[in-house]
Formats: sequence, structure tokens, C-alpha cells
Amino acid sequence: MPSVSADDEWSPLRSVIVGRAAQSNFPSEPPVMIANTMPSQYLEEFRPNHPFPEYISETADAELNQLASILEREGIKVYRPKNVDWCKIGGYTGSMPRDGLLTVGNHIIESAYAWGCRRQEIALAFEDILRELAQDSSVRVIRAPTPPFPDTIYDGPAGGGVDGHPWVINNSRIAFDAADFMRFGKTLLGQFSHVTNSKGVEYLRSQIPQGYSIEMLDVTNPHAMHIDTVICPLRQDLLIYCPSRVSEEALRKHEFLRDWDLRPVPFTPKPRVEPPSLTCSDWLVMNVLVLDGKKVIVDGTDTEFAEWMRELGMEPVFCPLRHVNSIGGASHCATVDLVRLG
Ligand code: NVA
Repeated sequence: MPSVSADDEWSPLRSVIVGRAAQSNFPSEPPVMIANTMPSQYLEEFRPNHPFPEYISETADAELNQLASILEREGIKVYRPKNVDWCKIGGYTGSMPRDGLLTVGNHIIESAYAWGCRRQEIALAFEDILRELAQDSSVRVIRAPTPPFPDTIYDGPAGGGVDGHPWVINNSRIAFDAADFMRFGKTLLGQFSHVTNSKGVEYLRSQIPQGYSIEMLDVTNPHAMHIDTVICPLRQDLLIYCPSRVSEEALRKHEFLRDWDLRPVPFTPKPRVEPPSLTCSDWLVMNVLVLDGKKVIVDGTDTEFAEWMRELGMEPVFCPLRHVNSIGGASHCATVDLVRLG
């Protein structure tokens, strides 16, 4: 089995990275970025060297250990990053590796993070994993380009955006988060966002293996950051989407989705109360890791979603993830697919 080989989001998962959440720290970025991407009621929490409450980080870490055990029981090889004190180095977390690493075929590509506070994330926590994967000569590991110093990404003017609401970052350097892209065979579907600019997409186009291409989805979310709360393919020909962030019409414009069964999430997700939803919208409910086109990791308290998954012919595999949600994502964000049997 190669160490890295994945062409979609639903074929049988054989190898994966699962993040770690201990000692996570609120990300600190310019207020304009936080105001545009984080829930409005918690903006003051996003200040330098401010750790997440310990009960959240510690429980989230235990939840991710449980996720790793569940995946191992399913016969999947699991890699785990190193523990890092993110508060000490002014970083964010090791629990959301999907944001920082993109697998495309036999390539694994590191994000050129727009957020300065995330720039060391992969090097500090995931370097050993990348080194191990690179020992397989069929694998190509592509590290992030070095950004200019001083960084110019927030210096304006920003282009693009949704409904006259411009993106916070400009196009002065390459910027993209891996979580703004999803694999659909030889085509990647991506979105522009507050963390992904056109230089980032052009760079990614130049790095993906030959024969692969990138198409960009028209989203209607002025707070866009990460496509995995906008769409989620569950198996070949079946995709769920958030109807307030993308339209069916926009999805159908992509030739490869023309004949897919496209299903809007048919309910408004219930607001998370405890632990509070410090970093994400309630659409996190659809941020799920699919194991094999049938089994799908779902938080046990997301009963409405689990029921809908069953109606769609999927089989929910329950794992508690509420504290992980609080830090920044669910089972899709917290993992990186390394091998899926296509
Ligand atoms: N920023 C998005 C994606 C989180 C994974 C949201 O809050 O919905």
C-alpha cells in the first residue's frame, strides 16, 4: 500500500492523520479577520496567548483519542502529531490538520496559511509524520512557500468577496487553507474565502499532480472559511450541501456534478450551548469524515443529522466530538485522509 494516495472523500479510508487538541490556544489575528470568520459573541477571546479553557482542550484531546481508536478498530492506520504548547509559541492548535495538509493523489501539500499564527503548525506538530510518509519514494511532500517578511496579506486592497462584502486578505502573496478544497476524482472543488486567494489557487494548480485540475465553486457565504461546512460528498453520486451557503444551481454548473444526487441539509442545526461554539457556526454538523461511502463519523448528540444519514443509506458511527467542535471543527477538520482505496 502506498503511504499517500487519495482521489476522493468517500472511498474506503485505509490511512489517516488524527489531530491532538491538548494546550490549544485561541488564534490571534487582526480583529478584522476574527470579526469576519469567528462567531460574533466570542470575539474578545481571540487575543494573544489566551489558551482555550483547560476542560475544553483536555476533553477535546480525549475525544480525538477516542476517534483514533474507533478508526483503528475499523482497520485504518492512524498517525498522530506531536504535542505542542500552542500558547507558549503564540499558535492555535494541532487538532485541525485538515486545514493545513491537502492530499491529492500521491502528493501531500502544506497550506500557505493566511493566518500568521498558524504558520508553524505543520512544522512543529506534523513534521515527523511528513518525514515518515516521504520515505515512500512514490510520495511527494510539498512544504509551504516562505511568505514575504513583513507579511503584506492584510495591507489591502482586498479583492473578491460575496455580495459587496470583500475578503479580508489581499492577493499580494500566495495564501490558501487546504480545507477550502475537496477531492472529486481528478477534479478538486475549491472556494475563495477569507483565507484563500487567487494566488493561492494558482500556486495549488502548479503543485497538484499532472492530470488533476481545480474548479472554484460560487459560494454565497460572506464569512467563507473552509468548504467542509458548505458541501460534503457522502459517496459517489451523493452530496449534501448547506443551502444558505451554496445553491444547487452553482453546484450543477460543475460538469462532474451534473448527474449527482444533491441534497440540501433539510433542517437548521441546533445551536451548540455547552461547551460553547467558540470558533464555528452550527453548520459544523455536516463536517463529517466518511469511512467508506457508507459509514460516517457523527457526534452522538447530533441525532437529527444521524437520522438523516440513515435515511440517505449511510451508517452513523458515533464518536463524541463536542469539545473538538468548540476548538474549531468536527471529524472532517480533525483528520487528513492519507490513503483511500479508489
Ligand atoms: N468557518 C466555517 C467552517 C468551520 C469548519 C464555519 O464556521 O462554518
